[in-house]
Amino acid sequence: MALAVTSSSSTAISGSSFSRSGASSESKALQICSIRLSDRTHLSQRRYSMKPLNVESHSRNESWVSRASTLIAPEVEEKGGEVEDFEQLAKKLEDASPLEIMDKALEKFGDEIAIAFSGAEDVALIEYARLTGKPFRVFSLDTGRLNPETYRLFDAVEKQYGIRIEYMFPDAVEVQALVRNKGLFSFYEDGHQECCRVRKVRPLRRALKGLKAWITGQRKDQSPGTRSEIPIVQVDPVFEGLDGGVGSLVKWNPLANVEGSDVWNFLRTMDVPVNALHAQGYVSIGCEPCTRPVLPGQHEREGRWWWEDAKAKECGLHKGNIKEEDGAADSKPAAVQEIFESNNVVALSRGGVENLMKLENRKEAWLVVLYAPWCPFCQAMEASYIELAEKLAGKGVKVAKFRADGEQKEFAKQELQLGSFPTILLFPKSAPRAIKYPSEHRDVDSLMTFVNLLR
Ligand code: ADX
Ligand code: SF4
Repeated sequence: MALAVTSSSSTAISGSSFSRSGASSESKALQICSIRLSDRTHLSQRRYSMKPLNVESHSRNESWVSRASTLIAPEVEEKGGEVEDFEQLAKKLEDASPLEIMDKALEKFGDEIAIAFSGAEDVALIEYARLTGKPFRVFSLDTGRLNPETYRLFDAVEKQYGIRIEYMFPDAVEVQALVRNKGLFSFYEDGHQECCRVRKVRPLRRALKGLKAWITGQRKDQSPGTRSEIPIVQVDPVFEGLDGGVGSLVKWNPLANVEGSDVWNFLRTMDVPVNALHAQGYVSIGCEPCTRPVLPGQHEREGRWWWEDAKAKECGLHKGNIKEEDGAADSKPAAVQEIFESNNVVALSRGGVENLMKLENRKEAWLVVLYAPWCPFCQAMEASYIELAEKLAGKGVKVAKFRADGEQKEFAKQELQLGSFPTILLFPKSAPRAIKYPSEHRDVDSLMTFVNLLR
């Protein structure tokens, strides 16, 4: 197939800064591969000098105070210091082609953006990125439960494009705890949210903490219930990027306005490798136990988590797509999966919080999160809060949660300084009034500093 991009020299790979374990044999293999795929080598050549995707935010050497003071509003600054209006940009790009959108995304964010590749028809994103002629990065969340055909596709894609996909894996201890406690198929009984949280959402959060922007293959027609309004580009409503805090990550959806049939026309025309499951009736593809083929005329989403209510069919990667029904959260707490569940996190009742407020001299300091389980920002801080509770166990600070939506909301607003969810309060050992955590950096280190400074 003739390609639209001219190649650079295939020898460039040998001079790259590729530095993973086994680098020498792998880079040899890549050289061989690059010779065979000489028309695609320009991509891998530039990619290897980039920093790894999963750099944890705590590797940045900033103090909590300076981090807290930098976060004011959800704005994204461009290199020149100008604030970009992504809503405006989304409007401007509404009629742009996926290629133009991809080009703009890569141009703006360079090596601080990556394509989220699921191993299904979103391989189109990789093809568009290649066509821009710009370097690009690709990551994938390997949940450990993908179909063999998906792993084969990952391999084929790596070879075809001369790239290495930056895989993100779930935390082994978390998976172990889930499976030991609940078995391998708990999601059929109590819903997919918990397993998705461990296997997909937390690894995604880690990946995004090393980026300023990401590119997804979401389309409006994929899910009329939850995706019909996704914009071409948006400030990510849920996840945080490299700089931390709300507004620190931009999400690009170059295929938002493209129909599934046109994505397929594109894949066929460009002769792109595809997942072998598509030939067996699968359309939307996720993990093996949670994906099945659909019949002619069935919506693609019906092949995902088919045992659940259609509204719940966002696994958390794109939670911002789910809108709260007007007033629902205020009138009665919604029946959603509970969060912050850990032996180290005390669930306080209204009476428990009131007692805490009354005490002048407490035996221990208390850190309390006022939360609502449906709130994506609360969900986003769940892992850090649980880790913090583990670290503080037996150290003279109790860690607790208080569900403050529904009928508790007014009380929490009046008495507990609740502004928006989550609100985090420290009840110091010897001061009567709770101190509100002022920052939107909710990582373990920042929270720990707050506790240690004020307990
Ligand atoms: S999901 O949230 O229901 O699983 P879906 O399968 O529709 O998502 O995919 C939409 C987009 O989410 C994909 O095009 C991709 O960008 C991203 N995505 C989904 N699953 C993964 C994954 N395992 N790894 C990386 N990105 C993914
Ligand atoms: Fe677990 Fe299924 Fe979610 Fe995969 S899709 S992470 S197997 S619940």
